[in-house]
Amino acid sequence: MADGLADPAVWVLDPCCGNGSYVVAVLDRIRRTLEGRGMGDLAAEELKRAATTRVVGFEIMTVPFVVAHWQVGEMLKAAPLQAGERAAVYLTNALTGWGESAAGPAIPGYEALVEERGAAATVKRERPILVVLGNPPYNAYAGLSPVGEGGLVEPYKVGLQAIWGVKKFNLDELYVRFFRIAERRIAEGVGRGVVSYISNWSWLFLPSFVVMREQLLRASAALGAQLAALLDPEAPMPGVTTGQLRSEIACVAVPSTKPGHDRDWALRGWGNRTAAGVTMPTRGRAASRAYDATEAAAQGRAGLLGANTFDVGLNDHSFWSGVPASVWECRIGGYQVLKKWLSYRDHSIIGRPLTAGEVSHVQQTARRIAACLLLGPALDASYRNCVADPA
Ligand SMILES: C[S@@+](CC[C@H](N)C(=O)[O-])C[C@H]1O[C@@H](n2cnc3c(N)ncnc32)[C@H](O)[C@@H]1O
Repeated sequence: MADGLADPAVWVLDPCCGNGSYVVAVLDRIRRTLEGRGMGDLAAEELKRAATTRVVGFEIMTVPFVVAHWQVGEMLKAAPLQAGERAAVYLTNALTGWGESAAGPAIPGYEALVEERGAAATVKRERPILVVLGNPPYNAYAGLSPVGEGGLVEPYKVGLQAIWGVKKFNLDELYVRFFRIAERRIAEGVGRGVVSYISNWSWLFLPSFVVMREQLLRASAALGAQLAALLDPEAPMPGVTTGQLRSEIACVAVPSTKPGHDRDWALRGWGNRTAAGVTMPTRGRAASRAYDATEAAAQGRAGLLGANTFDVGLNDHSFWSGVPASVWECRIGGYQVLKKWLSYRDHSIIGRPLTAGEVSHVQQTARRIAACLLLGPALDASYRNCVADPA
């Protein structure tokens, strides 16, 4: 990402932000990048957008939480926060609330706290965090990870005794729990990203942490896992199929109908069945066009997604809008993936319109292909690294 932290798609989290020094440092980095671009007054607004949305801090203690808000407010002098706007620093326990559970119980008299908890939960569950940084708390005697943390460090204990013969260990160290939060979010969530903590270094050499080291190494090879998940239609992919979608993905293959017509999901002109019962693809209805203004994010990735895009018609009236050329033309095993799927579901063959689930399946497949294509440079770089260092 050429713009680094200044890229609007880069979500940053300091899960233990204290007085907000890291949050402020990230914002300052963004400010310098933006100012170097001659954006004038727009830079201040863009910085405010980052501070109120995607540069996020969590803090459990009220005093540093307030100081963090004060510090971020100071950063935004050129475009001050207005009524109803707030820095994306939340009062919350960073170690809990990441799962898909119901909103917590009411706390009468403390409605603002409940609201705060809800806002933090939205970040934990939905935002495609790409960078986790900070200075987690240390406490080797913090006691067992409580139930609310959902067995956070249990994966670092698997096989410790049976495989590695480590009988005495202490993995409930607080900073280790923050490592696990970051690993889960990056390696098991978005599937790519950066973790940068200042931390105790005991995990680098003590026997207690051997499984943790093993797991982090595996996680850093997550690129392959990410590709595998993209190719598995059942695997949810945050940013591609779930949660807040990446902007270059959200405009891909949007089911649409021409104004003045009723929605019609019967596929026509895609295939037929011969007298011998063989399905034959026909020409279909894919019309090439230039990207429009709502597809600027995809157009910005035209180098990987293709210089033009297609409206792929179900029939004369309804269509999937904006399937970038390289997605539409993508072939696996010699077959054009999307066209092949459509050919087999022509109305003349299945005798019914597509269901909403099927229309959505085509959209999700197009988006997964787009995400795979966008992974290309990272995959190429990884391949080059392996070739350069076969060990
Ligand atoms: C070492 S300090 C970080 C200092 C910070 N970098 C700064 O600039 O002030 C660790 C912070 O983590 C906070 N903290 C500890 N446990 C937490 C938790 N479960 N959730 C969120 N914050 C937590 C502490 O209150 C403390 O402010």
